[in-house]
Amino acid sequence: MAVQISPSILSADFARLAEEAARVEGVADWLHVDVMDNHFVPNLTIGLPVVEALLRATPIPIDCHLMIQDPDRWAPAYAEAGAGSVTVHAEAAKAPVRTLRAIRAAGARSGFALNPATAIEVYEDLLPEIDMLLLMTVEPGFGGQKFLDVVLPKVTRARALIEKHGGEIWLQVDGGVSAETIERCAAAGADVFVAGNAVYAAEDPARAVQDLRALAELA
Ligand code: DX5
Ligand code: ZN
Repeated sequence: MAVQISPSILSADFARLAEEAARVEGVADWLHVDVMDNHFVPNLTIGLPVVEALLRATPIPIDCHLMIQDPDRWAPAYAEAGAGSVTVHAEAAKAPVRTLRAIRAAGARSGFALNPATAIEVYEDLLPEIDMLLLMTVEPGFGGQKFLDVVLPKVTRARALIEKHGGEIWLQVDGGVSAETIERCAAAGADVFVAGNAVYAAEDPARAVQDLRALAELA
């Protein structure tokens, strides 16, 4: 499984998103966009119009993480707009099978996210519908939070379930991923790494992406 790095623009300057994207162009595999609605999480960020503008402004594939209350209603539109990956939360989706299929039908990779306290085992039968499983390593809502080690055993168990089922399912971790924590995540079986602060609070974001990748590949 190849290591992929997905810098989160939540930690970037929202007034200069095109420039911020350009700073990681050529080194980042994805640009992670955190959509928050102040209902599913206690924070409000950006939505579809900004994602559409970003898609025009950068060649980097967009990885949309929907932290919203009604993802069944909204997710397909992000895929139709051209996002390469669209992730909905298990805790919010009312019809996850239908929604994951709609994301795929619209041409994007289907992502399914679990909060730190949500177990993976009950979703085992859903794996064939999922192209990327996202395990939150902080409580969702804000960048710059402390990594939750308590999630690592779930990363290990999720990797084992993915191997058992076969097929190509990426395992993404999101929250508090940094030079200090990325090796632990990779060793547990994660292969796609979201990093907000670790990239955009760095003096040289491109260098930060390269350093994170090197650490993950070593683990
Ligand atoms: C948090 C978001 C993350 C956030 C990560 O709810 O889903 O994508 O941007 O930021 P860091 O890497 O700073 O924890
Ligand atoms: Zn995210």
